[in-house]
Amino acid sequence: MPAASLEQIVSLAKRRGFVFPSSSVYGGLGSTWDYGPLGVELKNNVKRAWWKSVVHDRDDMEGLDAAILMNRLVWRYSGHEATFSDPMTDCRKCHARPRADHVFEAAKGRIPTGVDEINAAIAARELACPSCGEKDLTTARAFNLMFKTTVGPVDQGDDSGLAYLRPETAQGMFVNFGNVMDTMRRKLPFGMAQIGKAFRNEITPGNFTFRTREFEQMEIEYFVRPGEDEAAHKMWIEERTNWYYKLGLSPERLRQRHQDGTELAHYAKGCVDLEYRFPMGWSELEGIANRTDFDLKAHSRSEKNPDAVGSLTYYDEATKQHIVPYVIEPSAGADRATLAFLCDAYNDDLVSEPDADTTGKLKELVTSFAKSVQKRDGLDSAIKDRLVAESEAILAELPRSLPQLMGLASDADAGKIEVMRKGKGVVSKVAEEHTRTVLKLHPRLAPITAAVFPLKRNEPRLVEMARKLRKDLQSTGLRAVYDDTGAIGKLYRRQDEIGTPFCLTVDFQSLEDGTVTLRDRDTMQQIRLSADAAAQTLGQKTSSL
Ligand code: GAP
Repeated sequence: MPAASLEQIVSLAKRRGFVFPSSSVYGGLGSTWDYGPLGVELKNNVKRAWWKSVVHDRDDMEGLDAAILMNRLVWRYSGHEATFSDPMTDCRKCHARPRADHVFEAAKGRIPTGVDEINAAIAARELACPSCGEKDLTTARAFNLMFKTTVGPVDQGDDSGLAYLRPETAQGMFVNFGNVMDTMRRKLPFGMAQIGKAFRNEITPGNFTFRTREFEQMEIEYFVRPGEDEAAHKMWIEERTNWYYKLGLSPERLRQRHQDGTELAHYAKGCVDLEYRFPMGWSELEGIANRTDFDLKAHSRSEKNPDAVGSLTYYDEATKQHIVPYVIEPSAGADRATLAFLCDAYNDDLVSEPDADTTGKLKELVTSFAKSVQKRDGLDSAIKDRLVAESEAILAELPRSLPQLMGLASDADAGKIEVMRKGKGVVSKVAEEHTRTVLKLHPRLAPITAAVFPLKRNEPRLVEMARKLRKDLQSTGLRAVYDDTGAIGKLYRRQDEIGTPFCLTVDFQSLEDGTVTLRDRDTMQQIRLSADAAAQTLGQKTSSL
């Protein structure tokens, strides 16, 4: 069962060195995060798997690494200066500043057609402040999401040095269309891929690394002849969906959603979102848009754009004409993909059943929790229904549903009920004894592929053999670590928790016959194999997946 609550992931990420709150020695900076030793390995593996799949494994793609700072005109002609904004409104009563389109959607159950419709609803007092409920909101105003900076040593106080931190990597590829096509002698269809940081002054960042102000994108711009765009769009939707499947994302937690007309960005003719069922609900993982010829035209010299130095066109040998290609854009977030893989891989597995007495106590706790939820005033009825339904499902299956009970105990809404706040310690104690947390990450994504342990750390011959084995594994390109800081059982648990698919133990038999124990993370089964063959066996196991 994947993570039931984001809190479980946040806690594991912090505890085991995946992700830390940024600048924590100064109290942090809201919604900014640092990837720790294991997080950076995981995210790098996600990016590597993406690059391999969309650049190296294809013969119609090229890579690019464009600068973050670009000429300001890029953002003027791309349309971002004018339109890359969220509509904000202020509550005159409580001074909250919510996103006006979200307030509209909550009230009307649909996305507004534009700021005019939002403002008409505000004027008619149809929209209420989500914080205090008053229908006294100011006219919605556009709030641009691009971060400004100044290029050069002196800020003149005017706009002469103004530059933006790019809000998407895409524009770096559009303005390099001609360079890449010419230097790589490319014919249509062909595409570019780029991984890099993007920045948005998001009004409502949150949900851990899901929405942040600084994040990393993995974007493709795929150029085709006009008329061939629909087929290319379909091809990329399928390709990108399969990429997530191949890396182990549960099919029942991944879906394709066609954006309706009102949701489309200013440049898009159509867009399909790949959505993942995160613990907070279905949310966008990647958008695959048909951007038509909007961007290449926008950056070509014309009456509308006297600043561009030339035309971003393609000479079609067949028709002897210059054409402006259409663009299909699969745009993914490296942080969101990493978070989705983490949530999907998270499991609390039952390894033994608690006795009848302990099970009885857990049942009492859940029963009294469900009663308290029903009686509780001021709790949203949808939340009440969910908590009661979860409690009933857990009660029906205890003690096998102990992992689900752990999820409920760390749920933020359940934590509002005193019974669960007080009972959480008991649940954790039982869980510690009878469950293991295991990240069932695809071996290609796991931060560490193999961990090697000596059975005894004060036996030099075991230590020497284990260290040599780690080095041999590492030299074949597998990420391998050595650990002797605990008993073997404890070391297995630690590696399970960070998703290491294979553990190898060097024991006294190893000294005699050169074999070691190989333990599989998911099945917990152990086999003996020759230490010399370990690298090859693990290499095969990893690459065949
Ligand atoms: N070039 C198109 C583009 O940027 P987008 O839907 O705004 O489209 C693409 O962003 C992807 O980038 C999203 O699907 C998401 O994975 C990621 N992303 C966007 N904003 C983000 C944020 N504030 N924090 C983390 N990831 C974000």
